[in-house]
Parts: sequence; structure tokens; C-alpha cells
Amino acid sequence: MPIPETFITELVERSDIVDVVSQYVRLSKRSGANLFGLCPFHSEKTPSFSVSPDRQIYHCFGCGKGGGVINFIMEIENLSFPEAVEHLAKRAGLSMPEQSGDAESRRRDRMLRLNRDAARFFRQRLLDPEGEPARAYLARRQIRSKAATDFGLGFAPDSWDSLEKAMRALDYTDYELLDAGLVRRGKSGGFYDTFRNRLMFPVIDVRGNVIGFSGRILGDGEPKYMNSPETLVFNKSRNLFALNLAKKSKSGYIILSEGNIDVVSLHQAGFDSAVASLGTSLTAEQARLLSRYTDQIIIAYDNDNAGLKASQRAIGILEKLDLKVKVLRMSGAKDPDEFIKTKGAEAFRALLEGSENQIDYRLRSVTDKYDLSSDEQKVDFLKEATELVAKLPGAVERQVYAMRVASMAGISSEAVTGEVERRRKRLLSGARRTDQQEQSRPERQLQPADRELRYTDPGSAAAEEGLIRLLYLEPALGKTEGLPEAEEFSSPALGRIYAAIRDKINRGDAVNTASLGEALTLSEMSLLVSILQKPELLSKGEQTLRDYIGRIRDQRELAGRELDLRELASRLRERKGYKG
Ligand code: GTP
Ligand code: MN
Repeated sequence: MPIPETFITELVERSDIVDVVSQYVRLSKRSGANLFGLCPFHSEKTPSFSVSPDRQIYHCFGCGKGGGVINFIMEIENLSFPEAVEHLAKRAGLSMPEQSGDAESRRRDRMLRLNRDAARFFRQRLLDPEGEPARAYLARRQIRSKAATDFGLGFAPDSWDSLEKAMRALDYTDYELLDAGLVRRGKSGGFYDTFRNRLMFPVIDVRGNVIGFSGRILGDGEPKYMNSPETLVFNKSRNLFALNLAKKSKSGYIILSEGNIDVVSLHQAGFDSAVASLGTSLTAEQARLLSRYTDQIIIAYDNDNAGLKASQRAIGILEKLDLKVKVLRMSGAKDPDEFIKTKGAEAFRALLEGSENQIDYRLRSVTDKYDLSSDEQKVDFLKEATELVAKLPGAVERQVYAMRVASMAGISSEAVTGEVERRRKRLLSGARRTDQQEQSRPERQLQPADRELRYTDPGSAAAEEGLIRLLYLEPALGKTEGLPEAEEFSSPALGRIYAAIRDKINRGDAVNTASLGEALTLSEMSLLVSILQKPELLSKGEQTLRDYIGRIRDQRELAGRELDLRELASRLRERKGYKG
């Protein structure tokens, strides 16, 4: 174990879960000992996210996520266990104990170094005589050398092994290159460079690490872009291109565009807060990452149908995080890059300043759909527009927009306001109902929230859960004779949780979410916390324990017998086959 247990214990004692969670979630007291708020991990209208100050755990009754304070930070900040510990240590003003890195962090360090060396290699090729085709392409796209330097742009030569050779000379192995996605394996077993004859964009995270690459073809052709695969250090859905630069911007907003070229072009024109997602549509993780640096996002997606759809999706994701969202409407250009080139940076700035907030934008899209001079269409317009306004969280906002809708349709504002509030009531009660239904669906209670952990034998799993709950709450029971082995569990996930708890007990360590945090995945931790929510009779601990063990073994025998029967049947069938 790389981080000493004593340090973790002290850290958790100094990181009250209510304080930590409150930085992300507005918690309020309902009845009982727990605090409640809107879950930050799934979208909901009524609070089902609970925090227990006594037990120092969180649990969402809606999505099933749960754990201790370290798990919360891992989940919400997208960090690994040691990273989350470091994050909390900083917050608590504790300095991390010295530690020699474990195998995974060594692998990670090597890969980051390799990526940095590869970026330097590509960069140098761009400046060399052989980089001429890429330099010509940059000139054609009007990307000047200042921007190319700021972004660390490079060139992957038109060769099968130039990167591989150069990195081998720096003592990296082919397997390390393969791991980092920089080479691929040919049919004959040899290795060849992934990126060839491409303009290279290094992807750099907010800490300044080169985590991957995007390579654009020089000119037309397919595929236009090639991106690094997911690796130990590269996760497309959790990073954004150029956020390392945009996070330093003083502009107060972040411009979200689609293409790497758009981003470079925007920065070059003075819009230094432009970022792009990495070839996928915006994810919730990326939105959360953005929310750490700004509270206002300006969407500048391509001016086509796909871009429009992507904008609508992004608005939904960003809104959930309380980010102010505006959408740029570029006319006469297909993307920000083309807009700046044909109309100039000043025109783009004017667009930015005039960009609509997302309500205006949505209202406008609704208005554009209908001909308001026709009474029939006016009714449809009102239906859709009041529905939209009813969803706005602020009462003042609803009032203002209800008035605007009224004036567009040429009817009294009281009529519209009344309709908006009626719809709002209906919406709220509907949302409450769905949340409640979600929570009381019985199969949802029996099965883990994470589908990958589904129980194949719910009967045995219930007893396995019980055994885990007992041992967690009453670790002394872990010394009982005749406890089952983890392999006897029907659910591998429950088996892993059980093994981790027993391991702690055998070592004489404390059993809690912090001490188990490193051994369990976030899903397993969530499962454990949901198991702890169910009641347990501790007064008759030993007898209950025997009960659970008996049920696990009975079920196992039953399952085994079923298998035997099935095998017998299939043998009989085979034998029959021989005869006839
Ligand atoms: P141009 O303006 O055409 O030079 O390109 P761009 O940089 O603006 O990119 P575009 O708007 O065409 O695409 C947006 C993003 O989608 C790119 O930055 C890539 O991340 C991704 N993308 C585009 N084409 C491909 C492709 O062929 N394969 C993959 N994997 N990703 C692509
Ligand atoms: Mn583009």
C-alpha cells in the first residue's frame, strides 16, 4: 500500500464530508440525521442524494452512487485514489508523506515522458526541411508560426517508422510505444507509426502533461483526423483540447468549438479561451471540468445541422451544472475559422458580444418554426413556448420570458403567465413522481446500480450482502470460524468487497470507506454503501451471520445441483443422438 493508512485516517478525520460535499452540492436538512441535495452525478429534480454526517458517507437513492469523502472527490473531480488523497490533503493543509510510486504510477510517468518526447520529435520535424508540406499546409490555413509554437504543433513525417526509431533511440520499447498508441502492430507482428504524414496537435491536460495526439491529414482525404486511442493517460471524454491555454484566459468565458483548427484560429485572432472536445460530443465530465474554470460557456459549433443538434445537447449538459450558456449564430460561414477568415476578428467579437443566452436561442428556434399570423400555428407556438418558459428555474426569469412570448403572439401577458405557472406545477409534480417511482422500483433495490455488477443469483446475493454488512458494522465477527471463501460467493463483485473487508480485519486495520477506498473500484464502493443503507440486526450478530452463511451455501449447492441436472440432461440428449 503506497499511502500509509495512518495518513489516510488523519486526512479523513480532517475532511468532513459535509464540508467537502457542500462545495459542490447545496445540502439541506430534511428529517432525520441525513442531509439531502440534488445529486451531482445524475440529473434529477427532487433531491435523492444523501450525506450522513455521523457515518461520513454519501449515497444517492436515485443513481446508486456512494462512498466516503475520498470516493466523492474521485468521482466528482475525475481523480484516481492517490490523486483524490492529494487533492484533499491540499485542502486540509496536510503535506503528503514520502512514497515510492507503485507500478501503475511508474507506467503513467513513463508514458507521459514518452508523449512529451514524441511531441518534441514531431515539433522538430515541422521545423526541418522535411516539414515543408506541413508548413505549406499551415500557410494555406493561415496559421502563423506564433500560433503553431503556442500549440506545439508538429509534423509526423510520411514514413512507417521514423517516430518508432527516434523513440527507440531514447530507450523506449516498442511495447511502451504501443501502449501509448504511437505505434500499431502489423499483420507480420512488426510495429509501424500510427501517425504518418499528418499535422500533429498535442493534447495537453490542465497540468501541462502531453496526454495524446490528434493528427490532421494535410489537405483532403479520409480519415481527416486520427486521434490517440484511450490509454492509461488519455481519456477523451474527460479532457478538452486547449483547456491548458484557455484556463489562463482573462475573458471570463470559455468558447466551446468543434474543430482543432477552429481553436487554433480563434486563439490566433485573440480569443484565447477557445477549447474543443476531442472528436466526440460534449460529455458531462468535460462540462464539469469546464465548470472549474468558468461560469459562462459560449458555444461556437459548426453552422450545420450536426452542429445545431450538438449545440442543443451541449446546452442540456451545461445547464445542469448551473453554467450560463450562450450560443453563437454565425451566418455566412461554416465554422468559426471560416468566419474569422472571411469577416475578421472584429466581426467575431461583435458576434460574441451579441450572442444570445440559451433561452433566447431556444425561444428563437421555436419562433422560427411557426407562422404567427396564422391562429392555428399561434396556438402550437404558445404551447411550445410556454412549455419552454415553464422549465426556467427562476420566477423572475419566467415572468420576463412569459411577457416576451405574450408580445410575440400578441396576447395578454396575464394569460401567458397563468399558462406558464400551470405547466410548471404539472412539471414539478411529474418530476417528483418519476423520482419516487425510480426509487421504489423493487428490482432496482435488489440489483446493483451498475449493470456490470448484476447479480445472477439474487437469492444468494441477498445473503452475501448481509454477510458483508455484518462484517463491516461488526468487524469482530470476522474472527468467527467457518466463514466462507470469497470464491463461494455467487456475485464476483460482492466476493471482492467481502475479500477486501476480511483482509482489513485480518490485518487489524480499521474497516471504513477510507481504508477500503484503494482496494475497491468506485462502482464496488457504491455497491457497498448501498448495502449499508439496508437495516441489519446487530443484537443477534452471530446467529444472523450463521444464517447468512447457511443461505449462501444452500444456494450454492442448489445452483450446483441445477448444473449437474443440466449436464445430465445434455449427456442424455447426446446419447440419444448416437442411437437415433
Ligand atoms: P477543418 O476546419 O475541416 O480543417 O477541420 P476542423 O479542425 O475544424 O475539424 P472538423 O470541424 O472537421 O471536426 C471537428 C473535430 O472532429 C476534429 O477536431 C476532430 O477531433 C474530429 N474529427 C473530424 N474528422 C474526424 C475523423 O475523420 N476521424 C476522427 N476520429 N475524428 C474526426
Ligand atoms: Mn472546422
